[in-house]
Amino acid sequence: MRKRSDKVKVILVVGARPNFMKAAPIIQALRKYLDEIEHILVHTGQHYDFVMSQIFFQDLQLPQPDEYLNVGSGTHAEQTARTMIAFDRVVQEVCPKLVIVVGDVNSTLACALVCAKRGVDIAHVEAGVRSFDMAMPEEVNRLLTDQVARILFTPSQDANDNLAREGIPPERIHFVGNVMIDSLMASVAQIERREILTSLDLNGKPYVLITLHRPSNVDNPDHLGVLLDSMAKLANGVAVVFSIHPRTRKRIQEFGFSGHLEQVANLYPIESLGYLDFLALMKSADVVLTDSGGVQAETTFLGVPCVTVRPSTEWLVTLTSGTNQLVDCNQGEIIAVVETLLNNPIQKHSIPTMWDGRTAERIVEVLKQCYGEG
Ligand code: UD1
Ligand code: UDP
Repeated sequence: MRKRSDKVKVILVVGARPNFMKAAPIIQALRKYLDEIEHILVHTGQHYDFVMSQIFFQDLQLPQPDEYLNVGSGTHAEQTARTMIAFDRVVQEVCPKLVIVVGDVNSTLACALVCAKRGVDIAHVEAGVRSFDMAMPEEVNRLLTDQVARILFTPSQDANDNLAREGIPPERIHFVGNVMIDSLMASVAQIERREILTSLDLNGKPYVLITLHRPSNVDNPDHLGVLLDSMAKLANGVAVVFSIHPRTRKRIQEFGFSGHLEQVANLYPIESLGYLDFLALMKSADVVLTDSGGVQAETTFLGVPCVTVRPSTEWLVTLTSGTNQLVDCNQGEIIAVVETLLNNPIQKHSIPTMWDGRTAERIVEVLKQCYGEG
């Protein structure tokens, strides 16, 4: 049993790769108030490979989790249910005043649901973003988490508008900016020391960086085939680095597609990377081809052209003022758009409001107002 104390107890939940860079700045900001707020880090274990989890603790200087729930992989129902059962025990033991969840993965919704049922306050970081595509598991997670959250921290004006339209009372919505950008800004100076460009022999060369893991792209053999063929075709003219997510690696093997990636000159298929190496590659890339949510936001901040293989995006602001554009999963379209960008890099873009490295500070300020003395 934990010791009782007068401090406000806050649990922060992480579970999957895109959670770690969102949680790190919040922990950093909470550390300034250790006399008032006790924070407990819970890792659900949704992602567990070294390159999907532990490496981010090193790269982002995260403390080791206080609780590791070891939920692992499974169907959506299995993963969500296992997380709920394990997290419920933690909530029962710790009795937190507030649980902070970030993003839109299954761990986010599972832990939010536990809190809703136990009457524990929830703060959702990255609330309000919407792709309006209910076929995406993440859209379901976002919508439901926002419905049960008491405090909704939004990254952009369109997110505020979405929440208002969904009937969330304005006093629950706090526009704080994009917390991923806090991590990016804090890490960017470190990437000069990374050797990833040298080890891939990319220094001074143009290249396209690719990361893909959405089920709609990689679980469908026709779509995955198109994507792998597009990479091989692009590699005729420019170096192509493909950071392979474990879901994608599994599907490549299952569909018998490993040959697509073998012995293609200029195509470098590599295991997915830690945060700093990926950031180093992203910053110097000529074009990034992706279906990741976070990468769309990071490329907008870095001013790197981004091509997103999806019919819609929850990061609307990356289309309206950033460097992002959407393409269909179609070889001709992907190649034409990437080649156009290689020949004419985007000139104009702007950084969205409050993507300034101070989002976590604003989050903790709001929490102090809500849970401070009295
Ligand atoms: C999850 C999130 C997605 C997020 C992505 C970030 C949900 C519904 N999906 O998708 O929103 O964009 O993380 O990367 O929460 N696997 C491993 N090792 C690991 C983790 C996963 O081998 O450490 C393999 C397993 O075969 C697993 C598969 O990847 O079945 C998918 O993992 P899962 O967490 O279910 O979904 P992601 O596709 O990673
Ligand atoms: N990322 C990483 N290594 C990689 C690919 C991505 O560190 O090989 C980082 C990326 O910079 C961003 C985050 O992972 O910070 C995005 O997570 P992911 O694409 O897994 O999930 P999504 O954002 O789509 O939910």
